[in-house]
Amino acid sequence: MSELSVDHLLGIKYLKNSDIDLIFETADHFKKVINRPIKKVPSLRDITIANLFFENSTRTKLSFELAQKRLSADVINFSSGQSSVSKGETLVDTVNNILSMKVDMVVMRHPNPGAASFLSKHIDAQIINAGDGAHEHPTQALLDTYSIREKYGEVKGKKVVIVGDILHSRVALSNIFALQLQGAEVMVCGPKTLMPKHINKLGVKVETNLLKALNWCDIANMLRVQNERMEISYFPSTREYTQQYGVTKAVLESLDKEITIMHPGPINRGVEITSEVADSGQAIILNQVENGVAIRMAVMYLLASKIKQ
Ligand code: NCD
Repeated sequence: MSELSVDHLLGIKYLKNSDIDLIFETADHFKKVINRPIKKVPSLRDITIANLFFENSTRTKLSFELAQKRLSADVINFSSGQSSVSKGETLVDTVNNILSMKVDMVVMRHPNPGAASFLSKHIDAQIINAGDGAHEHPTQALLDTYSIREKYGEVKGKKVVIVGDILHSRVALSNIFALQLQGAEVMVCGPKTLMPKHINKLGVKVETNLLKALNWCDIANMLRVQNERMEISYFPSTREYTQQYGVTKAVLESLDKEITIMHPGPINRGVEITSEVADSGQAIILNQVENGVAIRMAVMYLLASKIKQ
């Protein structure tokens, strides 16, 4: 198979395992390209991509932009803070205006769950979801599982615990889907107040004790506490959260085996992990960032073949 089964990347939920294999094989190729002295290929020349960010982002936006430049695409950038959205324009109007400029692909981050899916039904362009509220963040889960495959050879059979703010995290949901699709065992760990009510329906193990979770896993993916999504207090204080769910060097040394630490960024150093842990040999956080560019190149390259001429 050399084609994705989907026309858009809206969520991992809509992908097949064969899609993930194809994205990973394509990313292997692009990873070699971005490590060459000449890092640019002409694959997306004449393709115009709009990056629409209705919510703040640093690394995801930079990563997409770099991936687009490496593929020689033409790129336009839009952030809602500096736009007419604050003047009351609707999402469809904003995007239609941009599309009348003949854009072929849209990368969108939006605070509302389902925004990317909504757009794909109203607009004639390939859509990539770069995060829709607390719903999905598919390229993050692809780069996370790609980084696990790179370190261990395969994702199948690995035990992965996702730690922290599961309730507000699109990274958690997309990772659960991607890990399960590839045959990993998944556990979520965090305070009860930060667990979604129906978490059991997702087929994951649930643990509230961090040490038990870490002793079980091969890999721990440490989520950031999403303070900006919390309208009420979900735990007594940051200090208390860190005492119970923060990973320190001492915690890692107390475990029976050496586990791998992942983090999607941005890190709250000293909250979910200490600097010592983030910068240690057990962390693959910077590999995740590097792989993010290769994965996003692969996704855009594969979706470009779906553009209607
Ligand atoms: C994540 C996000 O925005 O969902 N970060 C990212 O994409 N690099 C996670 C987070 O903000 O904590």
